[in-house]
Amino acid sequence: MCKKRIGILTGGGDVPPLNAVIASAVESCKQANIELIGFIKGWQGLIENLYVNLSDLNVNPAIGGTILKSSRIKLDGSDERLHRTQENFQRLGIGGLIVIGGEDTLSNSLSLPGIPQVLISKTIDNDVGVMPKDGRGIDGKAIVNYFTLGFPTAARKISSFVSLTEGLRSTAYSHERVIIVESMGMHAGWLALSSCMGHPDFIIIPEFPLDYERFKSRVVETYGKQRQAIIVVAEGARFSDDSHISADEYEKDEFGHPRFKGAAEVLAKKLKQDLKKEFDTRNVNAVNPSYLYRSGSPCKLDMRWAFTLGREAVKILVDGREAPTFLGIKRTGRGFGVMRYPLAKIRTIEEFHRFVDWRFYDADLYCATTEAKKYLGAVAEDIPMKEYGVDCRSDAGRIEDNT
Ligand code: F6P
Repeated sequence: MCKKRIGILTGGGDVPPLNAVIASAVESCKQANIELIGFIKGWQGLIENLYVNLSDLNVNPAIGGTILKSSRIKLDGSDERLHRTQENFQRLGIGGLIVIGGEDTLSNSLSLPGIPQVLISKTIDNDVGVMPKDGRGIDGKAIVNYFTLGFPTAARKISSFVSLTEGLRSTAYSHERVIIVESMGMHAGWLALSSCMGHPDFIIIPEFPLDYERFKSRVVETYGKQRQAIIVVAEGARFSDDSHISADEYEKDEFGHPRFKGAAEVLAKKLKQDLKKEFDTRNVNAVNPSYLYRSGSPCKLDMRWAFTLGREAVKILVDGREAPTFLGIKRTGRGFGVMRYPLAKIRTIEEFHRFVDWRFYDADLYCATTEAKKYLGAVAEDIPMKEYGVDCRSDAGRIEDNT
């Protein structure tokens, strides 16, 4: 790279390890004697020429969110935005750009093939990457981008929110409640699925539309046995007629995604109404942790990979040979490794948008398959799995009426 300056931006929903990537890039640039500038609010900063010099900043990697702030802004479809982005990039004399984002942020990168970029995926939705297509079993090593930054932390959170030792199971038991916990995830159910590590009774995800009548009888059956139940529902889940359990189809963001209003709340109201004859449905409640999934400090795995990817991104731009590149995470024999994936191989972002399929989800039992548990087990490497291994979906919750 001839120029001694690179840029970095963070777009889309924040995740806990963003500052760790930034801190790592700051440190690596210092060592390489390169100036690092950070664009404020993602692509918006590049369009409007808003940036800060990060070189002398001490960024705390353990604080969640992003010091650079974030926005959701669509570049393609607007010639003016594309033009201003390219113009500012040239004018600032930047040799390359580190783009940290989810599917929408990264799709902007694809409309700027002329800019040397290194893309790092972050989203608690874990929906950026490619799962191998064929075969019943999933070869972990064949997964393109094993996980996205932020997903490991969020997966730990949702599992702990529903678990017996740290979460809602104990209160569901004490008050004989059905608790419906909402997960984030508009299109992809990875986060909801990962709650399997905390043993909920049912998981409902957007990819598998819900046959409500059938589901209702399963809830009655489970409640009959346990006198309590935990249901996890993803915000973008649908009924079998394809209507969202909850979405405001009229309010959409810049990328055309509908705004969601609370699937757990809607499902709780519906079950309250429809199961009145079966049990005291005042005990059906909804909990939506919402932004708590995305907040706070990163877990160890996220922290480690944020640092690794930040460092690698700077290296690629300094070497100046491989950009534009998507920088992913691959499964290796011992753990995880860096995966350099040429951006030219990604023709459309849709090809890189992954969803939960039947290999990971059992639509009859509304739960994660063994294959999913194997996949998630690797992401949960430092979770005390034994602790989450307590299976409370037994008759233990039922107190026999001996009268
Ligand atoms: O894209 C990640 C995500 O966390 C989605 O799961 C969620 O629907 C969305 O962000 C909501 O974010 P915001 O309210 O910031 O637009």
